Amino acid sequence: MKERMFGRTGKSVSEIGLGTWQLGTRWGEPFQPAEAMKILETAAANGITFVDTADVYNGGKSEETIGEYLSMHPGRFYVTTKCGRRLNPHTAENYTAEAIAGFIGDSLRRMRLERLDMILLHCPPTSVFARDDIFAELDRQKKAGNIADYGVSIEKVSEGLAALDYDISAMEVIFNMFRLKPLDELFPAAAAKNVGIIARVPLASGLLTGKYTADTVFGPKDHRSYNREGAAFDKGETFSGVPYERGLEAVAAIKDILGTGDLAPLAIRWVLMHPEVSVVIPGASRASQVEENVRAAALPPLTQAQMQGIREVYDRMLREIIHPQW
Ligand SMILES: NC(=O)c1ccc[n+]([C@@H]2O[C@H](COP(=O)([O-])OP(=O)(O)OC[C@H]3O[C@@H](n4cnc5c(N)ncnc54)[C@H](OP(=O)(O)O)[C@@H]3O)[C@@H](O)[C@H]2O)c1
Repeated sequence: MKERMFGRTGKSVSEIGLGTWQLGTRWGEPFQPAEAMKILETAAANGITFVDTADVYNGGKSEETIGEYLSMHPGRFYVTTKCGRRLNPHTAENYTAEAIAGFIGDSLRRMRLERLDMILLHCPPTSVFARDDIFAELDRQKKAGNIADYGVSIEKVSEGLAALDYDISAMEVIFNMFRLKPLDELFPAAAAKNVGIIARVPLASGLLTGKYTADTVFGPKDHRSYNREGAAFDKGETFSGVPYERGLEAVAAIKDILGTGDLAPLAIRWVLMHPEVSVVIPGASRASQVEENVRAAALPPLTQAQMQGIREVYDRMLREIIHPQW
């Protein structure tokens, strides 16, 4: 597994990390603690040193399982967590310094840590990206030693650009073959400030693995059933905001370009073709997927013709839907 520098943190992390939104749950199904632990063990055994989580994932169980793992293997993972989504209602008014301080304390407890490696604001309302008081609190928490670094997770490119006015060390953004807009302005601006990029949803919620069809049925509690139109949260988090049928057509075109139906490692390799990315964080609903996804690190680079072909698929089939929204 290769490592990359993680922006201003000064740390180097595995270029492929692990996303844990669905850790041990397969999105919506009951939490399976043994499966969750097996996924973390498989990640570590395959050279992954970076784990992405959030206080809300599986009601806190993602953080707790990571904490349990780290209590047995101290320092084995660099962990990025996120906060804000526990606010109810999730409004800009409810973002306060006290709330942020409370969330940091809760994550420290759940993960049994004395200091968080990295905490991100978890896609807050847009106005929060310009809130001096919130970033001042993150600075205070850093000085107090409760967090080593902080950053933001964003929905829109414009939010990321606003956050670059603050002292952030990293930014998490959707970046995949279906989401090319960050390349235009955001990545150059982040690179100029040495802000690390965490590329999330690299498989477009699994669509870019190439395994789904028009007949695939997702469970009723799976966001890929209920959030396609954004009923619960930003629809960009579900299939990267691409309408499902259009996504299947684009996947078919990409399979032709890459000459294979097994897209998962290649979709991850595509993300890693971009040097601005510090770490890509595919999620895994079972341990075997972690093993498949780390294969991407050993693949040769995609050719210029393949990169160009994928760009043309985006421009022809997706750009007019995706570019204006995020
Ligand atoms: N707002 C935010 O900050 C935010 C939002 C979204 C995600 N995230 C983070 O980003 C991570 C990654 O995003 P994501 O999990 O939403 O989407 P993703 O990584 O694009 O897709 C993950 C899904 O793809 C399928 N999959 C993964 N590897 C596979 C393989 N090798 N072969 C076949 N199928 C495979 C699995 O679905 P099946 O269960 O169908 O097999 C898995 O649940 C999350 O876990 C989370 O840590 C953050």
